[in-house]
Amino acid sequence: MFEVQKIRADFPILNREVNGKPLIYFDNAATSQKPQQVIDAIVDYYQNYNANIHRGVHALSQEATDLFEAAREKVRTFFNIPQAKQVIFTAGNTHSINAVASGAHVFVKQGQDIIVSAVEHHSNIVPWQMLCERVGAHLKVIPVLDHGELDMDAYHNLLSENTAFVVVNHVSNALGVTNPVEEIIEAAHKVNALTLIDGAQSCGHMTLDMQALDADFYTMAAHKMCGPTGIGILYGKEELLNTLPPYQGGGEMIDQVSFEETTYAGLPHKFEAGTPNIAGGIALGAAIDYLNEIGMNHIAAYEHELLEYGTNRLKEIEGVTIYGDVSNKAAVISFNIAALHPYDLGTIVDKLGVAVRTGHHCAQPVMDRFQIPGTIRASFAFYNTKEEIDILVQALQRAVNMLA
Ligand code: ALA
Repeated sequence: MFEVQKIRADFPILNREVNGKPLIYFDNAATSQKPQQVIDAIVDYYQNYNANIHRGVHALSQEATDLFEAAREKVRTFFNIPQAKQVIFTAGNTHSINAVASGAHVFVKQGQDIIVSAVEHHSNIVPWQMLCERVGAHLKVIPVLDHGELDMDAYHNLLSENTAFVVVNHVSNALGVTNPVEEIIEAAHKVNALTLIDGAQSCGHMTLDMQALDADFYTMAAHKMCGPTGIGILYGKEELLNTLPPYQGGGEMIDQVSFEETTYAGLPHKFEAGTPNIAGGIALGAAIDYLNEIGMNHIAAYEHELLEYGTNRLKEIEGVTIYGDVSNKAAVISFNIAALHPYDLGTIVDKLGVAVRTGHHCAQPVMDRFQIPGTIRASFAFYNTKEEIDILVQALQRAVNMLA
């Protein structure tokens, strides 16, 4: 049974106060909080078996290696990835995208198109612009409709035999809208285009099945799913990862090195140069155990309940505009109140203990599309409550009264 108060007891940070008020943390799209089990896994590594991995024959190194590789296996199972070697550990979601984009000249020829959407985070725009510059490809953009959904007719019209890559996020961080990635991937494959899906906002919030989805590449961040910062996941189809050149050189990623020629290691090591984030990988494994114990179906259902409750409560405030007001979305509400500046509202609610993000959310083209400088974004997680949403609404009402 899903018991939110029992879950909250696992998150020590939820006991603290901010500005003399109990913390209400609604910035989960930026980073999730960490349960004690994940914090303990980090401490346990440094306290009891800190050693470098894949290198030593000594006992500590073996123990650390076994736990790190066990975490890779947990990631494989959690996302239904065929083989553990298709789980590449990176430094974060942005690194995962860059790992693909920096080597994608092997997949994209001069004059071809790369399609992105109008609701991308900068991390899923800029690396592709850089690739376009390098190879002389063209960036094409799927427009977004007034309610925050992608214009799928426009997408189908943009697709052609000249499309090399389609890159979109699964869930928009700025609007919370879930994009129809199944349809996007299927249509891209019909014209032999590759796909990369940015899963920064979907991982840890919905069940993800890499084999059913059939994306060519999929990227994720541990810190958005109760794991630590500094570790990301890149999933790719085996033959594509074999073709993709490594984005960093160094130890661990080689087979043989000489001054005449270097050959690379196989997957996943080819993409894991240098000492990885060992504690981070092991703690990501602990985060996956934790999410599994609660159950992704329970998490998704409860977060949707919070989304519906929060949307209805926010709509009670006079002058509220919600961007991305559709039913198929994650528990992220991006909004403005009349002409009040989001920064001013965010600052006042912070004084009342409520953490929300304000601004352009690293998605300036989305703000340009809606002709706004930014929004206030409340993003919920499974450890939030409806009572906390009530306090957010009260805090916003107070802020409106102060600013009006
Ligand atoms: N991408 C993160 C966010 O949307 C940081 O807040």
